[in-house]
Amino acid sequence: MSFEKNILCIGAGYVGGPTMAMIAYKCPRYRVTVVDIDPERIAQWNSDDLPIYEPGLDEVVKAARGKNLFFSTEVETGIRESEIIFVSVNTPTKTFGAGAGMAADLQYWDKTARQIRKYSKSNKIIVEKSTLPVKTAQAMERILTSADNGIRFDVLSNPEFLAEGTAIRDLEDPDRVLIGSTQTPNGLRARDVLVEIYSNWIRSERIITSNIWSSELSKLVANAFLAQRISSINSISALCEKADADVEEVARAVGMDSRVGNKFLNASVGFGGSCFKKDILNLVYLCRYYDLKEVADYWEGVVGINDYQKERFILNMLNVMFNTLANKRICLFGFAFKADTGDTRESPAIFAAKRLIEERASVVITDPKALKNAMKDLRDVAGELSYVEDPYEASAGCSAIAVMTEWAIYADLDYKKIYRSMAKPAFIFDGRNILDHEKLFEIGFNVFPIGKPGLTHF
Ligand code: NAD
Ligand code: UGA
Repeated sequence: MSFEKNILCIGAGYVGGPTMAMIAYKCPRYRVTVVDIDPERIAQWNSDDLPIYEPGLDEVVKAARGKNLFFSTEVETGIRESEIIFVSVNTPTKTFGAGAGMAADLQYWDKTARQIRKYSKSNKIIVEKSTLPVKTAQAMERILTSADNGIRFDVLSNPEFLAEGTAIRDLEDPDRVLIGSTQTPNGLRARDVLVEIYSNWIRSERIITSNIWSSELSKLVANAFLAQRISSINSISALCEKADADVEEVARAVGMDSRVGNKFLNASVGFGGSCFKKDILNLVYLCRYYDLKEVADYWEGVVGINDYQKERFILNMLNVMFNTLANKRICLFGFAFKADTGDTRESPAIFAAKRLIEERASVVITDPKALKNAMKDLRDVAGELSYVEDPYEASAGCSAIAVMTEWAIYADLDYKKIYRSMAKPAFIFDGRNILDHEKLFEIGFNVFPIGKPGLTHF
């Protein structure tokens, strides 16, 4: 069967897999291939047990896989046979050399550009899907055109705004799709090709275009603004605890102002995920590079408050549990960085588990989807750690439960039964404010939410 377009995506991760599955699902006339250097990941994409947990993803993949959606390790063939190449490789924070701990590590990106140059035999549109520092498109264009082999590469920026746990919904009905291009006739022609792809299922007013540098920067700024809201409310949660105010009541009153809006104002044990911290640090690095010290310091504060919130949560546990956690069993309810995903990258639960082990506590971890990743994250940690899928079994014999992830199942457990099985006095630290605190208190727990006065029997 011949297809109208041949689309390739390099990088079969949390972004590449779901975004390409959605394009294939919505556009049966296009052939979509996703390649990766990791054969295990590709084998999982080709199996019944997909490498990532994401509600609705299985159905979308199963509907298109083998028809117009293919997962493969054949990077070279993939490049040769496609006219449009999305690049969705990882861009973690650099851990070495100049900019270590701040700048984006572009080695995977650079390698991909060189592979595209090496294997291309015809003109291509290259789409930056990964999140990148401003001016990366220019660097990519320079690498691609350095062979001077007469092949034209048009580089577009098309950052991805999906959130994990709601990826399918976000891809199906996004707030906006952003496409940045150079303003040359070739750049604009390439931009229109990408607009046409998205127009298969997204209304035209939701597809916005811009110059390429604005597009690259918009992605970093969008994540910085979202994270800033969480740090803002988390900073206020500390004040609420001192001032006997309730952070949820404050957030509701503030968020009802339509200029502020009510989303992303849930105080928590801190934000996690692979991107917020990395993208803010990337922004900070860029500002320092351009000698904008005050701007860099301002945004770095968002990460600073997040670190403060994570540490504050542990210090509060220590404080109310009589200043020692040594030899006490503490159960972490949830290890994923948010609900409805198995992803644990930068999860506040990693920090909490390590800090509790430092305090010589014995840590029991439970999570419906993230236990495998939790074991990997903590494999080098020496201390008493155990992993138990059933939350009743996990909390039995523990002195405290700390809710780390807002999984809906934790709100519906039989807490009378849990209380009976725990060591006394029993504590609950609700790092997500998802439980019924009054009811828990009546059962006998000492309850410590985020940003509200604690309920204690002492
Ligand atoms: P990921 O680590 O899950 O996936 C990246 C994949 O790229 C890996 O499977 C890796 O093996 C593969 N890869 C690396 N180099 C390669 C090469 N040369 N050839 C082929 N494959 C290669 O990362 P992710 O979470 O999908 O993120 C990818 C990018 O998207 C990042 O820049 C991230 O900031 C951005 N982003 C992520 C999310 C998210 O929710 N995770 C959302 C929006 C944007
Ligand atoms: C985030 C953005 O929401 C996406 O738009 C973006 O595409 C993505 O980063 C990315 O670039 O990777 P994601 O990290 O998957 O998505 O999930 P979010 O829903 O943003 O949650 C991030 C963290 O903030 C989680 O730990 C979550 O629990 C926490 N959070 C969120 C709060 O603590 N309070 C809130 O009110 C909202």
